[in-house]
Amino acid sequence: MTSVLTGTERAVRAARSVGGSVRVPGDKSISHRAALFNALGSGRASISHFSPGGDCTSTLDCLRDLGVDVERQGEHVRVTGRGLRGFEEPTDVLDCGNSGTTMRMFSGVLAGSGIYAVLNGDSSLRRRPMARVVEPLRRAGARIEGRDGGRLAPLTIMPADLNGVDHQLNVASAQVKSALLLAGLFADGATSVVEPAQTRDHTERMLQAMGAQLDRDGPRCTVRPSELRCVDVEVPGDFSSAAFWLVLGVLHPHAEVHVQNVGLNPSRTGLLTILERMGAHVEIEHERDVAGEPVADLVAWSSQLSVTHVGGELVPLAIDEISLVALLGLFADGETVVEDAQELRAKESDRLAVVAEGLRTLGGDIEATQDGWRIKGGSRLRGGAVDAHDDHRMAMLLALAGALGEGAAIAGTESVAISYPGFWDDLQRLTSA
Ligand code: S3P
Repeated sequence: MTSVLTGTERAVRAARSVGGSVRVPGDKSISHRAALFNALGSGRASISHFSPGGDCTSTLDCLRDLGVDVERQGEHVRVTGRGLRGFEEPTDVLDCGNSGTTMRMFSGVLAGSGIYAVLNGDSSLRRRPMARVVEPLRRAGARIEGRDGGRLAPLTIMPADLNGVDHQLNVASAQVKSALLLAGLFADGATSVVEPAQTRDHTERMLQAMGAQLDRDGPRCTVRPSELRCVDVEVPGDFSSAAFWLVLGVLHPHAEVHVQNVGLNPSRTGLLTILERMGAHVEIEHERDVAGEPVADLVAWSSQLSVTHVGGELVPLAIDEISLVALLGLFADGETVVEDAQELRAKESDRLAVVAEGLRTLGGDIEATQDGWRIKGGSRLRGGAVDAHDDHRMAMLLALAGALGEGAAIAGTESVAISYPGFWDDLQRLTSA
């Protein structure tokens, strides 16, 4: 595949051992929701351990452009709610940056907000599919236009009256589900969303905590027009960031890694199931409940892995961590197969292609299929120059591959700041060269 080197390059050295304790940044999904939903509520909310990543900054910037009073001091954010229809018409295009969650969730909210707004993003976001949210919103009465008939951003949203609709999703996407439920708050009548497989449920949990009339019945979630009241949120550590350290700990032959304060919402922890099936030595300690979300500390030790087969309903439960299974498979005792993961082609990059290209360059025996990979264990990882294609999770995965093998020179690593600005410092602290 072709590559354009737009980000910074970084050299990662082989790690002799891996050890220590790390506290990962606040969960990106929960941070977006805590800011946006509270902006729609009445009152004021204090959000602690807010994600320092660029994606959540995009959400805060869009809220400010909509007239919301947002104060931020490091990891602490205060949002003053403006009520459901309190947004001001923005004077400029809303910039969602690299964040699909921002663009899709704001599409749902703005569809019912009674204002004119345009949502745009960076070159990666402008390539990502938007019909999945535009088409069902149009069925609910929304007036949305976009490039290519509404398939691509920029998206233009005009005032409209929304109706309650029964949506049967054909893609398992928490972003789409959230956009439709949020639009449902503004609709005339009940809105139902039925998802084809379970996806993360932070939206449902938080809307319920804020007083929305929202019922869940298996795969069906129904929301009725409701006012929200602001709630304080203590954001747990991001499981998707913790996942990198768990995998590094499991794969390195001399490792013990502790990750503190990690969100363990069961709709996010498919990777723990996969690690368990592969025979990885990972333990969950001090399980507790923080603001309606399960939280615990995790420990990972060097492990011998057996092969596994990942597909079906497990994929959406590990959607942002599935790429790490490719790396795990390189160290397992045979052929690991991942399937049903075609959604990875629609992420910040085509992750099926980028993972296969990067890991093959570093000596891995991996082949991308239409909807996953075939990965053979046992080949030694060697050094090499690879490209993360400006995708944060690809940059972090390739950094692990470098640390586990003989180092790597990685292009496109600036993107790491999208979810985990402190990643390089933590990598350095946890590894000894
Ligand atoms: C997210 C949902 C997932 C995930 C993304 C965050 C969310 O995307 O990949 O990183 O916060 O709802 P999809 O809904 O497109 O699967």
